[in-house]
Amino acid sequence: MAERSSFVVVANRLPVDEVMVDGERQWRPSPGGLVTALHPVLAQQRGTWIGWAGGDGEAPEPFELEGIKIHPVPLSAEELERYYEGQSNATIWPLYHDAVETPVYKRRWREAYRLVNQRFAQAAADVAEQGATVWVQDYQLQLVPAMLREMRPDLRIGFFLHIPFPPIELFMQMPFRAEILRGLLGADLVGFQQRLAAQNFVRLARHLLGLRYEGQSIQVDGRKVKAGAFPISIDTADMERMAADPAVQARAKQIRAELGDPETVILGVDRLDYTKGIELRLKAFRELLADGKLKVPEAVMVQVATPSRERVEHYQTLRVKVEREVGRINGEFGRVGMPAVHYLHQSYSKQELAALYVAADVMMVTPLRDGMNLVAKEYVACRANGGGALVLSEFAGAATELRQAFLCNPHDPDGVKDALLRAVGAEPAELKRRMRVMQRHLRTHDVAEWARTFLNELGVPDTDATPA
Ligand code: ADP
Ligand code: G6P
Repeated sequence: MAERSSFVVVANRLPVDEVMVDGERQWRPSPGGLVTALHPVLAQQRGTWIGWAGGDGEAPEPFELEGIKIHPVPLSAEELERYYEGQSNATIWPLYHDAVETPVYKRRWREAYRLVNQRFAQAAADVAEQGATVWVQDYQLQLVPAMLREMRPDLRIGFFLHIPFPPIELFMQMPFRAEILRGLLGADLVGFQQRLAAQNFVRLARHLLGLRYEGQSIQVDGRKVKAGAFPISIDTADMERMAADPAVQARAKQIRAELGDPETVILGVDRLDYTKGIELRLKAFRELLADGKLKVPEAVMVQVATPSRERVEHYQTLRVKVEREVGRINGEFGRVGMPAVHYLHQSYSKQELAALYVAADVMMVTPLRDGMNLVAKEYVACRANGGGALVLSEFAGAATELRQAFLCNPHDPDGVKDALLRAVGAEPAELKRRMRVMQRHLRTHDVAEWARTFLNELGVPDTDATPA
């Protein structure tokens, strides 16, 4: 039987993925902002992380990683297709991101979602000590809080949604909407990235289930369920340290040299996801080249597009579109040995990403909708010299905090072009001023503060599970 814990995190993803290399098991960091944020939080305490190890079939045995007890949960090939790729990433993901792609609804996906949520809830019930705190994460596991409460009423249950929570009109499309809502209401505290999302949630509880609320507190079966906004962040000090590392600084110089020492390096770093606005960013760059406002080789763009959810159709279509656009730009504006866009469909180490951030003059973060966007925060934290410009979509959660970025509306191509040009042409003193204000904000609003604030609101005393 697995060792019990007083602090348990339940997330679809573990911080590492199991990969088989020449028949041998290896672990590599798993993608995405959830893992980036939670890893340092869990590493500070001896908690348990329950999640999926990335493959199908039997789950690996529980093991320990950097002081975190890792408890893998298995998914069969069919569950992977129906629960993960289907219900989580072809239904809920697009619906919660303003339906920027059309959500697909299938009954058999919902059944798999229920079954897998039950498995995660059971795993948490098995490893949690009496009276433990269990913190459930994200849209893949929205039924877990209620399922877990049913099995273990002694637990303190928190839920945090890393992605946006849609307005009532959109949420109402979901075929098993009341079940999802009841699932979330099993928690004592439901956290969101934004104040508006928390408001959507409490209003929905009244609209759909007729529940009464006062402020952000909903009355459910004689209990109080609190909702609130807890904007997630990064380990700012760690990122700053990494960027200052002489090896990273040297690598950044080398990257610029490899790019032909251009005047302006424009960077994009995203999972290859249709919510991220990668195509519109490329199009803005192409039009500025066509207008003669930017020129190759003085300006070059680097787009890192991390492989993601590759068997989901929306993602396959996006990859074709993005790669076609990259080909078009390079065909029209590149020269031999001098592409206009360097496109990298690969994963990188944290150090290599930090070197890219240090090397980039302009960072483009242009999602059509994003819960937070940690890439934007990572870029700011890496710019210790005070230079560099962040072009940021108003539709990223990060825009609420990073007000000194060059904000733009990603639905307005001219607005994006204008923000990019302003960023390229801004005076160094202005860039420094903007960057300093954002850096100061991130130093106090880091991921440890996020976790502490959430857990305190959940009623966990500082000394217990909250990071120092
Ligand atoms: P999302 O969670 O939707 O992927 P975020 O911007 O919030 O978006 O988080 C993405 C995280 O993944 C960041 O911490 C970023 O550094 C990391 N990341 C993005 N691309 C890569 C890559 N190619 N290799 C390794 N890590 C990456
Ligand atoms: C976003 C989601 C996470 C997810 C990550 C990577 O950050 O909020 O829950 O883990 O993307 O996506 P993946 O499907 O590869 O886990």
